[in-house]
Amino acid sequence: MKDIIFATQNEGKMREIREILKDTGRQVYSMKEAGITAQVEEDGVTFAENARLKAVGIMEWCKKNGTPGFTDKTAEDFIVLADDSGLEVDFLGKEPGVYSARYMGYDTSYREKNANIIARMEGVAKKDRTARFVCAIAAAYPDGSCETACGIVEGYIGWEEAGENGFGYDPIFYLYENDLSTAQLCAEEKNRISHRGKALRSMKEKMGQRGL
Ligand code: IMP
Repeated sequence: MKDIIFATQNEGKMREIREILKDTGRQVYSMKEAGITAQVEEDGVTFAENARLKAVGIMEWCKKNGTPGFTDKTAEDFIVLADDSGLEVDFLGKEPGVYSARYMGYDTSYREKNANIIARMEGVAKKDRTARFVCAIAAAYPDGSCETACGIVEGYIGWEEAGENGFGYDPIFYLYENDLSTAQLCAEEKNRISHRGKALRSMKEKMGQRGL
């Protein structure tokens, strides 16, 4: 069974994926652990396209350059997983979407990004404030094939920021079930319902079915 290289620099995501895949017997390595220095342009127009570009780009890099972090393994021993995620706000024509990290510029703080989104929705009723976090995960295999899985959590944009947990757009994204923002949930609760958790669990099943 192949091990996993997960294409992220984010330690929080590494912890989440290790937790979800721990019962599969697969080892999960970061790009850093595998010694991968590839840079892949994420210029797709959908989350799935970006995840696919990243996973396939890194698998191709490994086929050319090997996996420098391991002396006894090659690209053939791995599946490369990559994700892309973001927030879609219906009233804003699904902005910020695939531009979530770049919205108003990479260097603009989330306090400013969040305040801007709330300001653009002034006077909008709750029923029209629908939004969702979307996550696409792509798995690139050494034989050149690639598959994707998607996870979504539905909610709405609140009227003010709330909560200290989470990151990014969490303080303005509220759940219908309890009218709490996802920044008000503890890490376990968020992982249980999150778009990334759903996409990862779906991908875990797909990888299992392929038996590679
Ligand atoms: P990435 O593709 O996972 O790097 O996410 C892109 C951007 O989407 C992040 O920088 C955040 O702005 C936003 N985002 C993705 N997932 C979440 C989440 O769970 N909470 C808050 N913001 C998120």
